[in-house]
Amino acid sequence: MNAEAARVAGAAPSGAVAPAGAAADAAGREPLLELKDVTTHYGPIRVLHHVDMVIYPGEMVCLLGGNASGKSTTLKTILGIVRVSEGEIRFRGERVDPLTTSDRIERGMAVVPENRRIFPKMTVRENLEMGAYLRKDRKEMDEDLEYVFSLFPRLGERLSQLGGTMSGGEQQMLAMGRALMSRPKLILMDEPSMGLAPLFVERIFEIIKQVNDRGISVFVVEQNANVALSIADRGYVLQTGEVVLSGAAQELLTNEGMKRAYLGET
Ligand SMILES: Nc1ncnc2c1ncn2[C@@H]1O[C@H](COP(=O)(O)OP(=O)(O)OP(=O)(O)O)[C@@H](O)[C@H]1O
Ligand SMILES: [Mg+2]
Repeated sequence: MNAEAARVAGAAPSGAVAPAGAAADAAGREPLLELKDVTTHYGPIRVLHHVDMVIYPGEMVCLLGGNASGKSTTLKTILGIVRVSEGEIRFRGERVDPLTTSDRIERGMAVVPENRRIFPKMTVRENLEMGAYLRKDRKEMDEDLEYVFSLFPRLGERLSQLGGTMSGGEQQMLAMGRALMSRPKLILMDEPSMGLAPLFVERIFEIIKQVNDRGISVFVVEQNANVALSIADRGYVLQTGEVVLSGAAQELLTNEGMKRAYLGET
């Protein structure tokens, strides 16, 4: 990662004092995001159970697991839509689990939610502007808009079209563009390939890779484990709310248990 990418990734400047509780990796990097012993509940029902996860600056990490294993809940917990009942979450060295969702977004998280959730009655331009609602730096916002159009030329051609009239693939582009408009350090994505044609799935993952190559960290929930692991750095596997497997993406791709359970091999 070059210096610019390191800046985008939110790496602590060299010589900075390590924040309390952060676990540096072998290369001495401090985590961008850290979940420590996180348990969550929906009412009386426990969903996540003592989950530990870490994402380092610039990484792309994927979260895999079967239906109802707690993948979406993990993202919602990171964002503060679901509160932790035990454990803590740190982002860029700061404890964020007591903070509201908008405070976390202000600190550099962005989300591409399940089923995109673009604003159907707003135009493409208005949807993109919603992604930047906390910002006041007009010049940088215009630069980011240009960046989004360079990734998704179609959005630039459709600025006045209503979001709800776009195809599923276009809405996915719009949701990603909206997330990028907040100039995030970390993008959280919930099943970006859901319901898309195979050609679009590849295209979306190519673009996720390009975004990540810029130094923006990505945490992506994905059913399509093969595609996700082929471009991710690392992965975690959840089963009924617990992390049952984690490691380098290449290792997970060749792991026998993974192959049987998630990679469509017997
Ligand atoms: N708002 C809610 N209230 C109560 N229970 C919920 C709520 N949302 C999710 N759950 C339950 O929590 C568990 C985990 O759900 P979650 O949506 O996190 O799973 P997931 O791994 O994302 O599944 P999928 O692959 O279907 O998207 C499930 O048993 C689900 O029924
Ligand atoms: Mg889900």
